Parts: sequence; structure tokens; C-alpha cells
Amino acid sequence: MKRGGSDEAKRRAGEAAAEAVADGQVVGLGTGSTAAHAIRALGRAVDAGLDVEGIPTSYQSRELAREVGVPLTTLDDATPDIAIDGADQVADGDLIKGGGAAHAREKLVDAAADRFLVVADESKLADRLSVPVPVEVLPDAREPVAASIRDLGGEPDLRLAERKDGPVVTDNGNLVLDCDFGEIDDPAALAADLSACPGVLEHGLFVDLADAIYVGTDDGATVRE
Ligand code: 5RP
Repeated sequence: MKRGGSDEAKRRAGEAAAEAVADGQVVGLGTGSTAAHAIRALGRAVDAGLDVEGIPTSYQSRELAREVGVPLTTLDDATPDIAIDGADQVADGDLIKGGGAAHAREKLVDAAADRFLVVADESKLADRLSVPVPVEVLPDAREPVAASIRDLGGEPDLRLAERKDGPVVTDNGNLVLDCDFGEIDDPAALAADLSACPGVLEHGLFVDLADAIYVGTDDGATVRE
């Protein structure tokens, strides 16, 4: 379910958000190609003397942070001052995330941060949320949760690995149902309904969590507070 604009626009958004990180801060490190630009920019800033620690939201962001030299910590030992993370769709400050199947840890880290900066290119902006909502489910809960999703008016689709030789398995050992609800009238109500389903570990609706949206274009980045 990947969407996206140019890599240049993603880079502009990621690098602009990385500039908001101050010396001594703990940073939540988001997942995906846009957040990766922020992690690389932080790595360069660390090389230049910035003192930061990162809390990764996925195996992928942890590996990249290690590669570019961002020191790491955990939620057991620190609270993020700021988090920088991408999104699959942004509407009225609410988000759908989980295109990289990392939304459970992303929500944990992004919600814990004092400030959560979203990085996105213009293709992610919409008037209303409408792309399928990723729902991470315990493997044994796949069918019961799929039935609950249908009761809520959605159409669940088990996410398959790229080679279609099996399902995507998250960093937490679970499965992902991409759930098409069409245009979502009330994201907060749907988020509450999804959270209430037994067997749902986490869903990709991020309602009222973002503090600023950094929107990249091929020419620069703008910030929407
Ligand atoms: C991963 C995510 C990503 O942040 C989201 O899919 C956006 O990715 P990209 O920046 O590559 O378009 O939610 O679970």
C-alpha cells in the first residue's frame, strides 16, 4: 500500500524536520523512506558534534541509525523529546500509518514524544482519510478480527510479502490486515472501535497525535502546525 511523491520531496521534508532537533535531545526515529532522510541528516549532525540519542520504531530504523552513527536508547531508559515519522496519508492533522507494518512501535514512540513531527510529501495530503487502515493482529486472531472489521463496515485484506510467498510478519511477530473503510467520516470513533477488538495489537489511525506536519516538495519544505 505504498504511496509517495519524489525522493527529493521526501528528502526536503525529512531534512527540514531533523533541523528542529536540539542538542541533548532524545529523538524518536520513524520508519519509511521519508523518515530515513531525517535519520541520515541526524547522522550527519552527530558527526558534526550534535549530542542526541535515538529511539527506533522498527528494525529498519534501528539498522539505519546504527549505520549512520546515531546513538540509541530505549523507552525503558528515556522519554523522547521529539519524534520524526512519516505517514501514508494526512488529513486535518490525523494520519494513517503502517505502510511499513511498523505502526505499533511507531505509535508507542510518537505518542510518548513531547513533540511529534510528521514528514510527508504532498502526495500524502488529503481532505479526508481514505487509504486502507493497517491493523496489526495476533496470528491466532486473524479471522475473528477480519469478521469484526466487516461488522465495522471495512474490507480486510491480509498483507502479503512482496514475493507473495506468505504473509508480512511484523517486528512483533504478528500479521497485518489492510482494512478499506473508504472515506473515514469520524477517525476518532473508528480508532476507538478498532482498539476495542480483541486480538488487535494496534491500528494505523493516528488521531490528534501530530504537532506539526513538514510537507516536502521538490523545491523546499513548509511546516503546518
Ligand atoms: C511505516 C510507516 C511509514 O512512515 C509510512 O508508510 C510512510 O512511508 P514512506 O515515507 O516510505 O512513504 O507508517 O509503518
